[in-house]
Amino acid sequence: MAKPKVFVTRKMAQEALDKIAAATEMELWEDELPPPRDILMKKVQDIEGLLCLLTDKIDGELLDAAPKLKVVSNMAVGFDNIVVPEATKRGVLVGNTPGVLTETTADFAFALLMSAARQVVASDNYTRQGKWKTWGPMILLGHDIHHATLGIVGCGRIGIEMAKRARGFDMKILYYDMIRRKPEEEKEYGLEFVPNLHDLLSRSDFVTVHVALTEQTRHIISTAEFKAMKPTAILVNAARGPVVDPDALYQAVKSKQIFGAALDVTEPEPINMDNPLLTVDNVIIAPHIASASFATRTLMANMAAANLLAGLKGEMPPNCVNPEVLKK
Ligand code: DGY
Repeated sequence: MAKPKVFVTRKMAQEALDKIAAATEMELWEDELPPPRDILMKKVQDIEGLLCLLTDKIDGELLDAAPKLKVVSNMAVGFDNIVVPEATKRGVLVGNTPGVLTETTADFAFALLMSAARQVVASDNYTRQGKWKTWGPMILLGHDIHHATLGIVGCGRIGIEMAKRARGFDMKILYYDMIRRKPEEEKEYGLEFVPNLHDLLSRSDFVTVHVALTEQTRHIISTAEFKAMKPTAILVNAARGPVVDPDALYQAVKSKQIFGAALDVTEPEPINMDNPLLTVDNVIIAPHIASASFATRTLMANMAAANLLAGLKGEMPPNCVNPEVLKK
């Protein structure tokens, strides 16, 4: 029997690609950059499985161009690049990669928090620029992390991991969550639930955002929210760029309405080199790498491969965001 055709939109851990290649007729996009839209539209024409990344937009138009498609496997936990109802309508399964990247992502978000608080990037620049002339009582002062208050916006898996890290620094931990309150985690990790976002913002020294990108969370941090924050506050975003309004962020950091920000994600991605956020020195910007450890990216690729291969067989992918497709 002929093997199902699949398209993989980027190189990833070889062991995952080997599994896919053994079971399918795999075409791999070898470029460093994503396949352009017109090429992707062509590539999907006779495939049954698509393994894509968060940089690939999967919408109704693309799904219409792929009449044989059974499964779209996204190598990411977030799937805002996929219009899931359009996939569901067409009976296409959608998989994602939750769980395996939780701690790695929180490690990096906490690293961003610490870097912004203690001016790690600014200090490195200072040294390289030959500005280090002496030890000085007022040089490159930052804010203490220990015993400060951390406000977590969106307390899912990654938010909880941030809380666990914060406990090691004797921080007070507040959280706000639009989906549900977490009484067990409150007890276990000493969290305080704050039902009003602005109350949380006004009480936090560090605000870290860990919500999925939806219509409800788009620009959840904007002008009014920056106004509510302390002038000493630091914002961390390792979720999705559009959860923070970039114009409002620029105004807030430029005018020192807040102390600074540390971002792993931007709106848009990649950031344009003429984006004004690149002109201010109290913002750290990483190129969306929070899950980028060798081990985690291998786990993500293997999970994406498992989702793809299950979907091709008409089985439930181990991590499926629209299981109703098979339950119908
Ligand atoms: C995700 O998985 O959604 C991240 O943003 C990339 O690891």
